[in-house]
Amino acid sequence: MAENSLGHLLGRLRRYPDVEAANLQAWDATDTLLLDTAADLLTPASRVAVIGDRYGALTLGLLGGAGTAPQVRVYQDLITGERALRHNAAALGVAGGFKQLPLGAELLADADIVLLQLPKTLAELEEISDAVARHAPKGAVLLAGGRVKHMSLGMNEVLGRYFETVQPQLARRKSRVLLASGPKTVEPVPPYPVTEHNAELDLQVCAHGAVFAGTKLDIGTRYLLEFLPEIPAAGTSVDLGCGTGILAAMYARRHPDSAVIATDQSAAAVASARATATANGLDRQITVLQDDAMGSLPAGSAGLILLNPPFHLGASVHAGAGIKMFEAAARVLVPGGELWTVFNSHLHYLPALERLVGPTSVRGRNPKFTVSVSVKRHGR
Ligand SMILES: C[S@@+](CC[C@H](N)C(=O)[O-])C[C@H]1O[C@@H](n2cnc3c(N)ncnc32)[C@H](O)[C@@H]1O
Repeated sequence: MAENSLGHLLGRLRRYPDVEAANLQAWDATDTLLLDTAADLLTPASRVAVIGDRYGALTLGLLGGAGTAPQVRVYQDLITGERALRHNAAALGVAGGFKQLPLGAELLADADIVLLQLPKTLAELEEISDAVARHAPKGAVLLAGGRVKHMSLGMNEVLGRYFETVQPQLARRKSRVLLASGPKTVEPVPPYPVTEHNAELDLQVCAHGAVFAGTKLDIGTRYLLEFLPEIPAAGTSVDLGCGTGILAAMYARRHPDSAVIATDQSAAAVASARATATANGLDRQITVLQDDAMGSLPAGSAGLILLNPPFHLGASVHAGAGIKMFEAAARVLVPGGELWTVFNSHLHYLPALERLVGPTSVRGRNPKFTVSVSVKRHGR
């Protein structure tokens, strides 16, 4: 696509329904570098798959270009990213042309070019690399792009385990593309999800590559679990931003009569939480739901919410993601219902919890974290 028309398209993209702010953008220089690199390889017959498209820049950039494949298949881990892509496509008047799919055979079979926004962790890159090598044809080329400051040699090593050749391309505007070709033959069993027994909790923890903390127990989560004996039973409870579902599982085990909803915006997280629930015989008690901040749960439907909120938004630190969770908790709790939150004490979340949810008290503080309980105000 001509540079100015691509620039025009990207300039119109929004992050909505993800958090929006003046310092947060819906695309970056890696998207444009990936699109330009792909343009040199694309033919009218190319079949393209996209992985990790944040808000649709790659998919819509491909569809806006001349001579690209009529169908772009795309996998995004976050439901907010999937929705943003659909929203941006509608706003730009792009009807169809792309298909949103899980990371698997339907996404990758027949793909001869795969565009990837490099993920944050090597575990996620490993799961993606395995999927591409497993399902894409032998002639497939993977273009993996990232911001140079977030790239490591470990990424080349992971790609090298799954592809015959990994060629770093010239950096441009602080982004770089690694061109991987010649998918290798993979092990019969995919490397993810992994399951590990956590001896401290006596819990089987299952994790896909992209999930927060992997199979490990986050230290904030560990601190919140110290308060489990004080956390009341409720008819319906929610593990909000469940990750691998450790909080949901530990709460469900302690309160066998409580129905627990484990929910996260990440496909990898909900798949992990579902596997964790099953591995511990709790799948009948725990319902797992991929959703953006409980948007599909009715107002006033939960008596209790457990929350270890996110505070990193992509690479930029921003409190908006936590605040969005507090607003959601205020909506979904019944009056008198409780939100138990653990957070890094430097974040000063207490005034926001008090304002958005209701009376908030500190139940504990250690050198790093605060655990608070907020009681949903009546009459809201
Ligand atoms: C700090 S991690 C906690 C994970 C897990 N509860 C634990 O304790 O290990 C925060 C989680 O919130 C999820 N998250 C962030 N924004 C979200 C949103 N808008 N809706 C649902 N989940 C979200 C992230 O995907 C991540 O899994």
